[in-house]
Amino acid sequence: MADKATIEINDKKIELPLIKGTENELAIDISTLRASSGGVITLDPGFKNTGSCESAITFLDGEKGILRYRGYDIAELAENVDFLEVAYLLIFGELPTKEQNDKFHDDIKAESVVDEDVKKIVEAFPKSAHPMGVISSLTSALTAFNPSSVNVESEADMYKSVVRILGKMPVLVAWTMRKKQGLPLDYGDDSLGYVENLLKMMFTKPNKTYVQNQVLVDAMDKLLILHADHEQNCSTSTVRVVGSSHAGLFASISAGISALWGPLHGGANQAVLEMLEAIQADGGDTKKYMAKAKDKNDPFRLMGFGHRVYKNFDPRARIIKKAADQVLHDLGIEDPILDIAKGLEKEALEDSYFVDRKLYPNVDFYSGIIYRAMGIPTDMFTVMFAIGRLPGWIAQWREMRLRKEPIGRPRQIYVGATERKFVPVDAR
Ligand code: CMC
Repeated sequence: MADKATIEINDKKIELPLIKGTENELAIDISTLRASSGGVITLDPGFKNTGSCESAITFLDGEKGILRYRGYDIAELAENVDFLEVAYLLIFGELPTKEQNDKFHDDIKAESVVDEDVKKIVEAFPKSAHPMGVISSLTSALTAFNPSSVNVESEADMYKSVVRILGKMPVLVAWTMRKKQGLPLDYGDDSLGYVENLLKMMFTKPNKTYVQNQVLVDAMDKLLILHADHEQNCSTSTVRVVGSSHAGLFASISAGISALWGPLHGGANQAVLEMLEAIQADGGDTKKYMAKAKDKNDPFRLMGFGHRVYKNFDPRARIIKKAADQVLHDLGIEDPILDIAKGLEKEALEDSYFVDRKLYPNVDFYSGIIYRAMGIPTDMFTVMFAIGRLPGWIAQWREMRLRKEPIGRPRQIYVGATERKFVPVDAR
């Protein structure tokens, strides 16, 4: 296999190096193209063919439906380790020893108190505010309460900001949900595991002792693991680009949360459930919605279907579909929404529109059904995605800073007006 690519521009041949990853993926390194071609650049809206970095964190093969964190298969991790171990793995590159894991958890717990003044900010939001807007603002506000900038040359400084955001984020998530429900904002219980504590902070009632439900803990743990990283997706790329200007970790993550909010990305989990509810309210006629999804004059899309990278199946969706069945069974819930989801999936998988375009259920198609069974409000679903994705964002931000990547600053092809003569206002 050659290690160079040659392109010809107006009879000039330009040789560019081919880069090969550890999983044999190939890329043409175009970093010298503009200089050697007299100003020619590449154009790739939506970055469908553009690699923005070399990364050693997550590998995915969309054709084969493979997803691995630091070399470990996602299904094996979801079965055998907990969310904090996965967070450690993603951020620091190796699964932790027992001692490393205990210390990591202790350090996170030590940082899981939020300045009381943050409560005033939470309380100032209207109850109608979307939780993703609230959580993005609160994450940004953390910068004001923890103003020291991270010295990325110092591992100790880096570590401190990592455990700080992992400690505070569950509190902010719980407060965001509780504020909307008119419940008191409080802190969790330091003696609990990370996920147990998150659930307690979200669901505890002021007049009742909270009792952990292992089914919920296991399901949440699995969901968080499955969402923990997904290489250079929209929100992660946002985190890396914002961080590339040397903006701090919290500011970069706040931007990532905003990117995740959109219905084409993390917001799809909320959109899926709303779609399933709409189909149910409309008499459960899945065929009608399939037809709408295929109609090019109708903006409706089958939410939870399709993926930029997975063109065979989404390995996360397979695990989540099984988990949804299990959780509903274990909790003794019969949810007709699950039947509608399964019906839609079956029809889509047999329909040439979806088959030809390689549109399969993605991670968001079944996750909402589990969140709903757990009693999480629909508008909090994307926030749950965000807390799952947090270790991935941190790992990618840290990698980008340690690799001393340059500021992200794409070029463009200008298609606007050419030079014009200025016309004073009274002559326009
Ligand atoms: N329903 C109906 N048609 C679809 C759908 C869908 N969900 N997704 C893609 N298509 C069609 C699209 O109209 C296009 O058709 P044509 O070639 O005739 O113009 C073709 O399939 C290719 O679609 P695309 O929009 O060019 O593909 P993309 O890679 O730019 O978009 C996507 C990927 C995930 C944004 C898109 O599939 C979509 O909008 N899905 C629904 C939203 C969703 O579930 N998002 C969650 C993604 S997974 C979790 C995450 O990463 O956050």
